[in-house]
Amino acid sequence: FNAPTKPKLTLRLCEPRGFCAGVDRAIQIVVLALKKYGAPVYVRHEIVHNRYVVDGLRDMGAVFVKELDEIPDDGQPVVFSAHGVPKSVPAAAATREMLYLDATCPLVSKVHKQAMLHVKRGRHVVLIGHKGHPEVVGTMGQLAPGTASLIETVADVAAFEPADPAALGFVTQTTLSLDDTADIVAALKAKFPQMTAPSSESICYATTNRQEAVKASAEGSDLFLIVGAPNSSNSRRLVEVAERAGAAHGLLVEGPDEIPFEMLTQEHPVVGMSAGASAPEVLVDAIIAALRERFDLRLELVQTAEENENFPVMRALRDVPLTSA
Ligand code: F3S
Repeated sequence: FNAPTKPKLTLRLCEPRGFCAGVDRAIQIVVLALKKYGAPVYVRHEIVHNRYVVDGLRDMGAVFVKELDEIPDDGQPVVFSAHGVPKSVPAAAATREMLYLDATCPLVSKVHKQAMLHVKRGRHVVLIGHKGHPEVVGTMGQLAPGTASLIETVADVAAFEPADPAALGFVTQTTLSLDDTADIVAALKAKFPQMTAPSSESICYATTNRQEAVKASAEGSDLFLIVGAPNSSNSRRLVEVAERAGAAHGLLVEGPDEIPFEMLTQEHPVVGMSAGASAPEVLVDAIIAALRERFDLRLELVQTAEENENFPVMRALRDVPLTSA
């Protein structure tokens, strides 16, 4: 009696993938605040764009709100999300004498500073990004009304007629597609040759590294799974990168229940996988386990960079042990 043999499947796993240093820090801030101050700790907006993470923190006592006016108790701390907030938010928290902890990723804060520097130097800011994304709302909210314009596409560049075409400076959202952004910047530079670039690249190391690893592994894969949430900008870009770089299909999945097994009926399929910067590794592990149940899995690691970034939490929380003894 022979047990039926499972069909073979090659899984190309991208490295780096998943949590970036900014997401890791934001989650730590909520966990440490809960330890230091006790529940409830309020969190304005999803701390990072992942339901699994948000539900886990909610179970620990975090209370998620859309706006500060939903918080009844000025005495409990409130954490601002990793995406950044308009200046009006900490100002409103200070007026109410709330204890606020700003979990804005330092790389988003850096973009805020570069945008403000453009204004200080007399330039109108061109922000390349996606309308309505919390990071774009936060970056726009650093600047006085009328001092910045949002550009989403190359078509927007053609329609953009600034008052002084010679005095422009651009920054971008941190989680954009490298290729799309390069096209938009090229179109802007062609139309406005005097436009000033930020002093360093706005797209962050984590976005860049995750896209590069997906690019290197997409060619020849039958399916490319990106673990991430539908509202996660960097995860959605990874799906596009996979398809453009040669994957037959790219798909955003939130967990093992969403694996389209019906797409894997060919002999020895090749599946690529990565995870967005806000997707925890346990979801990647759960997908590998689900694939292993049905297939004889061959795992291939595609590593294109090493990451050692670590962003420390604010001083107020540094004395709190992250793990209990
Ligand atoms: Fe920061 Fe980039 Fe992550 S901006 S939150 S390191 S995706």
